[in-house]
Amino acid sequence: MKVTVVGAGNVGASVAEYVAIKDFAAEVVLVDIKEGFAEGKAMDLMQTASLNGFDTTITGVTGDYSKTAGSDVAVITSGIPRKPGMTREELIGINAGIVKQVSENLIKYSPDVTLIIVSNPMDTMTYLAAKATGLPKNRIIGMGGALDSARFKYRLAEALECPSSEVSAMVIGGHSDTGMVPLIEKATRNCVPVSEFLSEDQKSSVVEETKVGGATLTKLLGTSAWYAPGAAVSEMVRAIALDSNKIFPCSVLLDGEYGLDDICIGVPCVIGKNGVEKIIEIELSDAEKAKLTESAAGVKKTNADLASSL
Ligand code: LAC
Repeated sequence: MKVTVVGAGNVGASVAEYVAIKDFAAEVVLVDIKEGFAEGKAMDLMQTASLNGFDTTITGVTGDYSKTAGSDVAVITSGIPRKPGMTREELIGINAGIVKQVSENLIKYSPDVTLIIVSNPMDTMTYLAAKATGLPKNRIIGMGGALDSARFKYRLAEALECPSSEVSAMVIGGHSDTGMVPLIEKATRNCVPVSEFLSEDQKSSVVEETKVGGATLTKLLGTSAWYAPGAAVSEMVRAIALDSNKIFPCSVLLDGEYGLDDICIGVPCVIGKNGVEKIIEIELSDAEKAKLTESAAGVKKTNADLASSL
């Protein structure tokens, strides 16, 4: 498999590193616009190959998309990350133009690529990439739910005083501080509903901490996080590479599912060799449905700001 990662900043480099360490791809191409930057990151990462024991080849290029030709998967991390106090939605003005241009460049050389969008505001950038490229909707996937679900599991594990590996939980909805819908009533610890262990107050705290998971890190780090975003992307790419049919909540173009259409928002999807193999429509409670509907209204509001970029 050939994987292109556009943007060699913190998230892009972390994606390249995790993909390489997991050793399922033949090749990773890192692209950046800053002269020599992707080349430097690629060389540094390649010097870990003998230490970390991977055979994946990582190369870096400055803006030369011809080197990305024939990519099976391309991950778009380009644009600017948020600073403390900013929402993801505030990045739209700068990131929309970048994501549109990057996705057009990618499909010029890799018409059969599956795109994974990480740039923020992620659901809106995924919608933009879908409209700009005209790729089939199973091949445009927004990464937010896999990350938000990992952060949800972290908070649940903390409250449950158990390892994250024992927790099964999912966040659907928009990838924003107000739009995330952590499905707490469906979360389990080794098949036991978490309500057996946690009080209503504890569950509310877990949900609130999950929703501001990215903002909490941005405040601590001065920029947005990269390890968990990189790991989340690498797991999605691995599911495509190995055709593993794993379920991840992903931002995908909906056409009536969950009563929503003409929107990209996080819903559970089976991920395999064709990208989104299937959108799963799980039974939601009335409260969960109401939260998803409200979240979709927020994403549509941000999408409306795209009009000038489409
Ligand atoms: C975050 C960014 C990737 O949530 O949106 O950390």
